[in-house]
Amino acid sequence: MRRIAISVAATTMTLSLAGCGVLGATGDSASASPSKGNDITVGLLLPEKANTRYDKFDYPIIKSQVAELTQKRGKVEYANADADVSQQNAQMQKMIDDKVDIILIDPVDAHAISGEVKKAKDAGIPVIAYDRLAEGPIDAYVSFDNELVGEVQGRSLLEALGSHADTSDKIVMMNGSPTDPNAKQFKEGALSELNGKVTIAASYDTVKWKPENAQANMAQAIAQIGKNNIAAVYSANDDMAGGVIKALEAAGVTTLPPITGQDASLEGVQRVVADEQYMSVYKSYPDEAQAAAQMAVAKIQGKDIQFDALTQDKVDSPTTKSIPARLIQPVALTKTNIRSTVISDGIYTVGDICTSAYKAACARVGLK
Ligand code: GAL
Repeated sequence: MRRIAISVAATTMTLSLAGCGVLGATGDSASASPSKGNDITVGLLLPEKANTRYDKFDYPIIKSQVAELTQKRGKVEYANADADVSQQNAQMQKMIDDKVDIILIDPVDAHAISGEVKKAKDAGIPVIAYDRLAEGPIDAYVSFDNELVGEVQGRSLLEALGSHADTSDKIVMMNGSPTDPNAKQFKEGALSELNGKVTIAASYDTVKWKPENAQANMAQAIAQIGKNNIAAVYSANDDMAGGVIKALEAAGVTTLPPITGQDASLEGVQRVVADEQYMSVYKSYPDEAQAAAQMAVAKIQGKDIQFDALTQDKVDSPTTKSIPARLIQPVALTKTNIRSTVISDGIYTVGDICTSAYKAACARVGLK
């Protein structure tokens, strides 16, 4: 997806300007939403609670950014689906019935939500896919460069194995949810680095991204491969890395192999400090959430030039081609850059990370 995005980015501006109000053209019903003032409502649908990023960062940041862009008059109507597909469909239907001005949707299941996306479109409500690429006639997409996330994870794993890494090293892959298109891109990105360099001895797609499912899959991998024969574990996110570690410890493993992660969750960052997890991927939620809020407000208020400037990439979904998009760069988080990433962005304080159990480990990596 990233490669497509880069190759067509240059044409985005021209194409979009031709269809925008500034040049006097009118689009279809959703893209030609009438200019509104500041009394607007943004519908926000987020996918789950097990991963704390959504309630802790995405929602509050989008809410405050919408307020800031509308002289405190714009509102966010928020619903979290708690990983339940039918609940999310019902939540989206309610927002359509409530006639919100725009919907930001981070789907539990990118395919299963497409009917609701179509209904919103028919009701004249624009839809922006947030973080995960919802299928159906969406107006725009904002996310990270997900294939690059996978590449960064794969490269880090090889780096952790060091110069003696070879094709006989057995790796377990704990991938994300099969209904999340991001998970597929993380996996593809990681495999592009790992293929031919190590042996993928077992690989799982983890239902609903649940840590307990990752733990059960890891227990199975240990039984199959042998607890002392696993050179490293690719875990697609931090919460699942926690499940992987529980399974390894339950099997009596005392020296943990290198394990990857993603999301820079507080526990993930603490494990990185304490050498229990090799790395995480820091995705700046403020950058993603602010971009989403800016896109939503510009779209509702009919500020087409601003909207086009915010969406200079292009992506294709299985149903829709050339979706205007913004893809943000992720950063590998290791022991060496905790201060310049999550701390300097205000995600955590040193005090949050360096609780009494982590004081000594924090001191070793210069966090005091
Ligand atoms: C992905 C998202 C990650 C993480 C993961 C698990 O789609 O990009 O940041 O939240 O879901 O919930």
